[in-house]
Amino acid sequence: MGRKNLQHLNHFVSTSDLSKEIVQSLIDRAIAYKKGASYHFLEPKFIANLFFESSTHTRCAFEMAEHHLGIKQLSFDYETSSVTKGASLHDTVVTMCTLGVDVLVIRSDEEQFYTSLLEDKNVTCTIVNAGDGMGEHPVQSMIDLMTIYEHFGSFEGLKVGIVGDIKHSRVANSDMAMFRRLGMKVYFSGPEVFQNDKCQMYGDYMSMDALVKEVDVLVLLRIQRERHSLSISDETYFKDYGLTLDRVGNMKEKAIILHPCPINKGVEIAPEVLTLDKCRILTQMKNGVYMNMAILEALLV
Ligand code: CP
Repeated sequence: MGRKNLQHLNHFVSTSDLSKEIVQSLIDRAIAYKKGASYHFLEPKFIANLFFESSTHTRCAFEMAEHHLGIKQLSFDYETSSVTKGASLHDTVVTMCTLGVDVLVIRSDEEQFYTSLLEDKNVTCTIVNAGDGMGEHPVQSMIDLMTIYEHFGSFEGLKVGIVGDIKHSRVANSDMAMFRRLGMKVYFSGPEVFQNDKCQMYGDYMSMDALVKEVDVLVLLRIQRERHSLSISDETYFKDYGLTLDRVGNMKEKAIILHPCPINKGVEIAPEVLTLDKCRILTQMKNGVYMNMAILEALLV
């Protein structure tokens, strides 16, 4: 797909802003990039990746996408920034906008950090939510959707299982909303302490052994230990919910395995499963670069 079909976006902060048409246009453009399309902004465009929380996959995939598109990066390191001298996230954003930055990719532990930014007339930059606490991770959700679409060619009627620490996962929040909007049926599995009201709203709970037989797509989640102090041992978790070769053996022939990363081997997934064709975790990672290119282009056209 060429860039003429890409819908312009003002910001990219929540899946609630993403219609089916926008999702499809971003996926089509990301797939075109993956197949070799290229685009370089001729006029200078400036970006800063403001990560107030740790990240490898999202941050580096954005940096790579920005290089491919010829967008100039301003460096920002939380540890050596003026945040350590009292500047807030909001102050930092206003500073970047005043300096002439066009786009800010932001990760913060504060849920909906973007709401006050979008209301401030001094915030002239375009905002990308790269994860807001336990709120949302719309970028990861788009990457998951691209990976599913590449394999199945459509969404309607697919069955998707989300397994693990759903309660503390922003990826789960974004995925369950998008999966349902696109006509997929959502199921959950995981310890009861990791479920919440949304699980009942969006889908049915199943045991892990029943779930693996039922679904076309299995989304595994990391236990978000940085967000709670619930005691659940890695061994118990792996026994009850870990994806082992035996469990993979009960999955449908065409079913695929996703994980937003970072993964904990021997907790949510057995190391041997990572090398299987069904396991599309590295594909997701690679797709992150192309999806981020599509998102940035849609924001800057
Ligand atoms: N998927 C994801 O958000 O990973 P990082 O925390 O490494 O960015």
